[in-house]
Amino acid sequence: MSTTASPSSARDVAPAKDAASSGHGNAPLPARASRSGPLAGTIEVPGDKSVSHRALIFGTLAVGETEITGLLEGEDVLNTARACAALGANVERLGPGAWRVHGVGVGGLQAPDGPLDFGNAGTGSRLMMGVVAGNPITATFDGDASLRKRPMRRILDPLEKMGVEVLDEAEGGRLPLTLRGPRDLIPITYESPVASAQIKSAVLLAGLGAPGETTLIEKEASRDHTERMLAHFGAEVRVEPHGAHGRKVTLKGRPELKPAPVRVPADPSSAAFPLVAALIVPGSEVTIRGVMTNPLRTGLLTTLQEMGAAIEFLDARTEGGESVADLRVRASALKGVDVPAARAPSMIDEYPVLAVAAACAQGTTRMRGLSELRVKESDRLAAVAAGLEAGGVAFAIEGDDLVVEGRGRVPGGGTVETHMDHRIAMSFLMMGLVAEKPMTIDDVSFIATSFPDFVPLMTGLGADIALAGDAA
Ligand code: S3P
Repeated sequence: MSTTASPSSARDVAPAKDAASSGHGNAPLPARASRSGPLAGTIEVPGDKSVSHRALIFGTLAVGETEITGLLEGEDVLNTARACAALGANVERLGPGAWRVHGVGVGGLQAPDGPLDFGNAGTGSRLMMGVVAGNPITATFDGDASLRKRPMRRILDPLEKMGVEVLDEAEGGRLPLTLRGPRDLIPITYESPVASAQIKSAVLLAGLGAPGETTLIEKEASRDHTERMLAHFGAEVRVEPHGAHGRKVTLKGRPELKPAPVRVPADPSSAAFPLVAALIVPGSEVTIRGVMTNPLRTGLLTTLQEMGAAIEFLDARTEGGESVADLRVRASALKGVDVPAARAPSMIDEYPVLAVAAACAQGTTRMRGLSELRVKESDRLAAVAAGLEAGGVAFAIEGDDLVVEGRGRVPGGGTVETHMDHRIAMSFLMMGLVAEKPMTIDDVSFIATSFPDFVPLMTGLGADIALAGDAA
């Protein structure tokens, strides 16, 4: 993707990638994180990944030009940009984080020339399946070795009920797979078996192409960026409570979506890494600017505050339809807590770094109901367990719960396998900053999927992180 400030089309700059290749084609990049002095400074983390994918997708489905600022330019989102271009949108990069999408309208997508390669991105691939469903076209979805292991039946099942044909799929409902959207999609009411914003979003995005009302029911509320953006682009969407913690979302199909500017707030899931580092490295004080504080994303902040974390919310405000605040974080003596399963959807991507905070706390932290972690970019429950083991931290997996015995110190000294998972890489780099002996991470290259400048940003705060090949 071009990095110049002059306009460039995502279609023109998209490298011809081999969708069947595993990984992102780069050699593994090992790194070592060592005990660091106090971290200090004020930083900004990149735009929210969930909002960035959706901004490009809604821009594609609107008729006319949508301007996006603060877009995350990580590999996952760039793959979505390429897919939007392959489906007929004109996607231009105007400058850092500034993009313009000239959309084709609901039902106006063209059939892509070749397979759509989503790389490592579950969100990009699953949401785009919903988008394609609403068009009478055939498209093949593919991704890297990590994405090819992830379950897609959770998306294909509701889409088939809406009339989509699955022409081809790898064993167990996995990528690569080929879908054909029907001429007339059937609106459905779907009760999602898992609290997943990806399932919800795929059904609602498909529902845009169906006549009448499509309804999605979830037992636990998952992140609501799709619902917010539907309303922002002029669709009629109703959100009602369902049971104790759930929601019922109803969308009126076949709207004409109108372009609307999107300002992407900073990603709380990326802020989580410097935030936890500032809590656990003694003497640290770090401010992270403009972090999205949507209540369906703040489970980690709630949990850390229960653990005794000193986190101040400064200048709380609304930007681009989302609540944001500057977070001032000071190193804190943390204690173990019990994290209820009902909180999982609001912090689903934050458990690996919470496990690092829990290892540095005094006492036991029990994280309940983590079954969904098994089907993320890696089997995160297994990868976190192996990372804790490598760091010499006592833990147990009991059913779907992870129990970490915090002893206020981390021996360190081991090597962590990241299994193509950016969040495993970043979490255990943070552990290395407090461990008695350095932690080695086998491959940090996948950090580029969500947080391209992570290492320089952390070293700028004072973190001792050395990439293989760097002078020690
Ligand atoms: C996302 C939803 C979550 C999360 C993922 C982003 C989204 O997945 O893990 O990183 O943008 O909708 P599930 O909702 O499937 O748990």
